[in-house]
Amino acid sequence: MSKKAWGGRFSETPEEWVDAFNASIHFDQTLIDYDVEGSIAHATMLAEQGIITEEDSQAIIEGLKGIQKDYHDGKMSWDVSLEDIHLNIEHELIQRIGEAGGRLHTGRSRNDQIATDMHLYTKTEVQAIMEMVRKLQHTIVNIADQHVETIMPGYTHLQRAQPISFAHHILTYYWMLQRDYSRFEDSLARIDMSPLGAAALSGTTYPIDRHRTQELLDFGSLYENSLDAVSDRDYIVETLHNISLTMVHLSRFAEEIIFWSSEEAKFVTLSDAFSTGSSIMPQKKNPDMAELIRGKVGRTTGHLMSMLVTLKGLPLAYNKDMQEDKEGLFDAVRTIKGSLRIFEGMLSTMTVNVEHLQDEVTHDFSNATELADYLVSKDVPFRKAHEIVGQIVLSCTQQGIYLLDVPLEEYQQAHPAIESDIYDYLRPESCVKRRTSYGSTGQEAVRQQLEHIKANM
Ligand code: ARG
Repeated sequence: MSKKAWGGRFSETPEEWVDAFNASIHFDQTLIDYDVEGSIAHATMLAEQGIITEEDSQAIIEGLKGIQKDYHDGKMSWDVSLEDIHLNIEHELIQRIGEAGGRLHTGRSRNDQIATDMHLYTKTEVQAIMEMVRKLQHTIVNIADQHVETIMPGYTHLQRAQPISFAHHILTYYWMLQRDYSRFEDSLARIDMSPLGAAALSGTTYPIDRHRTQELLDFGSLYENSLDAVSDRDYIVETLHNISLTMVHLSRFAEEIIFWSSEEAKFVTLSDAFSTGSSIMPQKKNPDMAELIRGKVGRTTGHLMSMLVTLKGLPLAYNKDMQEDKEGLFDAVRTIKGSLRIFEGMLSTMTVNVEHLQDEVTHDFSNATELADYLVSKDVPFRKAHEIVGQIVLSCTQQGIYLLDVPLEEYQQAHPAIESDIYDYLRPESCVKRRTSYGSTGQEAVRQQLEHIKANM
C-alpha cells in the first residue's frame, strides 16, 4: 500500500476494503490521455508564469509522457490505495523524477483536474458520436435515393393506412438523426469549456493564467466562476440525454426493421452477416442486432436517470458523489458508438423486397381514402363519401376482395358518379403520385426533399 498523498493529518489509514470502495482507478484510468494532456498544459503554464522552473516543467512533461506510453504498452500497474488516476500518476511521477514531480499540483486540485479530464473526454466522444450519426444519415440517404418509387404500406396504430414511398418512410429517420446531430452540436458550447485553474473551489493565490491553459487545451471558452467550474455536471446530464434520445430513435427504427424482416411482413431481408440463428430451430434467422439496439436504450436511459438523481440536492462544490458520473457516461458512450456502427452495417447490407411490397400494397385497403377523395372530386361531401366507402370496404371484406377487384356495376350502385377511371385512380402508385403537397410522400415531393437534404449535408 502506498503512502496517501493526503496522509499528513491522519493517524490511521483505511483498510484495504475501504480503499477499494473509495477508489475509482479501475474505471478512471480510461481518462489517462486527458489527464496527461491537462497536466502538461498546467505544467507549461506554471513555468511560463514563473511559478515553477522551466527545468522542472520539462521534467514533469517528459515524466508524464513516459507514464502514458508505459500505460499504453501495458507496463503500468495502479495502486488502489492511491484512489484514482490523478494520485496514481502523481505518485508514479514523483517516483520517476523526484521532487519536481511534487510541484505539478501547485495551484491545482483534483477537483478542477477531474473536471478538466471529463470535459476533454466528453468533447472528444461527442464529436466521434456526431461523425457516426452523419455516416448513418448518409446510408439512409443512399437507400432513399434508390427507393423513391418503391411503394410500401404506411401505417397508423400499426394498421395499414395509406400507401407511401419507401424513401419517404426511411427519410423520417434521417430527420430524427439530424435533430440529434444538432443537439450534440449545440451541447459542444457547454462541453468545450475549461474548468482548469478553479483549483479546489475558490481559485488560487498563485499567479496562474487560466486563459493560457484554456488555449493550450483548445477549449472554446472557460468557466467564469471557480465554484461553478468544479460543481457543474450539467454537460454530462446533457450528453446522457442526447445519447438516450438518439438511442430511442435507433430503437424505433430497430423495431420497424424487426417487423419488416418478419415472416409476416417480409418487406426487407437482413444480410446473414447481421443476423443470427437458433440453437434448436434450424429454420430461424433472427434480427438479434436490431433487437439488441432496441434493448440497449434501457441502459442509456438508466444512466441518465441515475446522473440526475445523483446531482439532485448536491451542495456546492465538489462532493464525492460526483465520482459516480463516470461509469454511466463511459458505458453510454460505448453503447451508442457500438449501436451506431452496427446499425449502419445492418442497414447498408439490407435488401428491400420491392416486388413483395408492391404486391402487399395492391392487396390491402390502404387506397380507401383515395376512393373517398375521388367521390369528393365528383362533388360528394367528404363525410358522405367516407360513409359510402366504409360500406364498400365492409362488402369487400365479406367477399374477401379488395377495392381494385370490385366490378364497375357494384361501384355504380354504391354511387353513380364512379366511372371506369376509378381503377387507375386507385392504383397504389397513383395514390402516392397525387400527393404533391410540400413534404408529402408523392414521388416528386420526395425527390425535392432528397435534393434539399443533399444540398445541406
Ligand atoms: N476520483 C474523483 C472523481 O472521480 C476525482 C476527484 C476527487 N477529488 C477529491 N477531492 N476527492 O470524482
